[in-house]
Amino acid sequence: QRFAHTPTRNAGFKQLTSADIEQFKSMLPSETILATPAVGGSSDPVELEGFNADWLNKYRGASQLVLRPKSTQEVADILRYCNENQIAVVPQGGNTGLVGGSVPVHDEVVLSLRNLNKIRGYDEVSGVLACDAGCVLEELDNYVAERGHTMPLDLGAKGSCHIGGNVATNAGGIRFLRYGSLHGSVLGLEVVLPDGTILDNMSLLRKDNTGYDLKQLFIGSEGTLGVITGVSLLTPRRPAAVNVAVLGVSSYEQVQVAFKLARQRCGEILSAFEFWDASCMGAVLHHHALRNPLSSEFPFYVLIETSGSNKSHDDEKLSELLEELMEAEVVEDGALAQDDSQIAKMWTMREGIPESLGKTGATYKYDVSIPIPVLYDVVGDIASRLEAAGLYKQGDTTRPVKLVCGYGHIGDSNLHLNIVADKFQDKVTDIFEPFVYEWVQSHRGSISAEHGIGLMKRDYLKYSKSSPMIDYMKRIKSLFDPKGILNPYKVV
Ligand code: FAD
Ligand code: MLT
Ligand code: ZN
Repeated sequence: QRFAHTPTRNAGFKQLTSADIEQFKSMLPSETILATPAVGGSSDPVELEGFNADWLNKYRGASQLVLRPKSTQEVADILRYCNENQIAVVPQGGNTGLVGGSVPVHDEVVLSLRNLNKIRGYDEVSGVLACDAGCVLEELDNYVAERGHTMPLDLGAKGSCHIGGNVATNAGGIRFLRYGSLHGSVLGLEVVLPDGTILDNMSLLRKDNTGYDLKQLFIGSEGTLGVITGVSLLTPRRPAAVNVAVLGVSSYEQVQVAFKLARQRCGEILSAFEFWDASCMGAVLHHHALRNPLSSEFPFYVLIETSGSNKSHDDEKLSELLEELMEAEVVEDGALAQDDSQIAKMWTMREGIPESLGKTGATYKYDVSIPIPVLYDVVGDIASRLEAAGLYKQGDTTRPVKLVCGYGHIGDSNLHLNIVADKFQDKVTDIFEPFVYEWVQSHRGSISAEHGIGLMKRDYLKYSKSSPMIDYMKRIKSLFDPKGILNPYKVV
């Protein structure tokens, strides 16, 4: 889709010709190339649709060429050729990104990592995993689960997203509270730079203080500095006992009280503390075969998960916490999962929200960090602005905006503010952009807690980074990618 702020095509980038396709054919097996007749290939453009459109169906490029290399060397050959010929490239993992970073803006070549999907090694003593960047997160989790471990991150897109994409976006997710950021879990990376240089930094060690830690630059670089082809990371022991409870809460103030008490009583076993509001619950129950496990509807819902090594100890601690929350009337009703199937259903109630909102309409997503006490206020402020503009009225589905709702990782001060409209249009966007970024800045928050900048927030980076910082980011970009061929128009 084209928006008022969509950047114009950089005329300095070469337009592909059949001669370029012939060059790629000499580097790669033919089954790894999808090229349309427009550039001298024979693939049906429909086959490229899935690579050109993003998960939200908000951003759509017009790439005529998708390359799916099977080795790091092939990635290096592709990039060297593109760099020499000024051909723009967008690296793509599972294409589940939510900021328009994973799809072309114009006719960039899509470099898909999906065929780089082998596990390179696993040390069951240290729990260190080394794998290709195109391995799917859930498949890696299944692999390490068989060996008694867990991946240090988990997110609703686990069935499609790649570990390379997770690293490139510095994905957060629902285990962040317990295992922290990928900046801590990732031990090493193999990265191909735009000129074809392979930076082999696949360390398998936790400790390595030999000067600048270059891999950190690529964590969260969103495909703008290099293409990640290999990842090594630490996988913690899989917890032996997991408990999940869903609670009904009458106000956002009480959500905070519940969080404080959960940390106080269950700190060492608390592995997730998520929340969502009534609008999210309505959407998820409408679109999933689930029923509300609570006796009635509430303004807010909380999901608490504990993960520990001793089931009876954890059961006792969580039950005590729930009793205390009910007695103090912090929580009005609660349900404790009795088995794995109930645990999965409760998680679907939370993780199914993005998909359910997507089925409801065109979803604008703002993924922000805000100090917990004021975190939910922005939802009301945005709703009021839309109401004042006549675009939204709660419960009135004839208005252009159907829902304004919030959910997220309370434990990490991370709100997902979502606005669901009948379609993406500048008239609607202008009501909350740049207002939402100004709001976040005025509360010393971050305009991206976990999804990144991509194309969506490129022009708003200044709300979270000072101009000297942006200047240094640009210098780093030109150091690694002097010709600017890698994921152009994104981030900086
Ligand atoms: P893509 O979407 O393909 O790419 C994302 C960015 O990384 C792009 O800029 C791309 O160019 C770059 N990139 C991808 N692979 C590479 C590579 N190998 N080398 C260099 N650059 C690369 N995110 C969270 O942080 N937390 C969540 O809880 C969360 N939940 C989600 C739930 C759903 C249902 C969905 C659809 C998305 C969710 N996301 C979440 C967002 C998204 O899944 C993550 O950003 C994820 O890490 C992206 O991985 P991917 O492989 O799909 O990358
Ligand atoms: C989540 O926490 O569900 C994800 O970050 C996706 C989203 O924000 O919708
Ligand atoms: Zn999230």
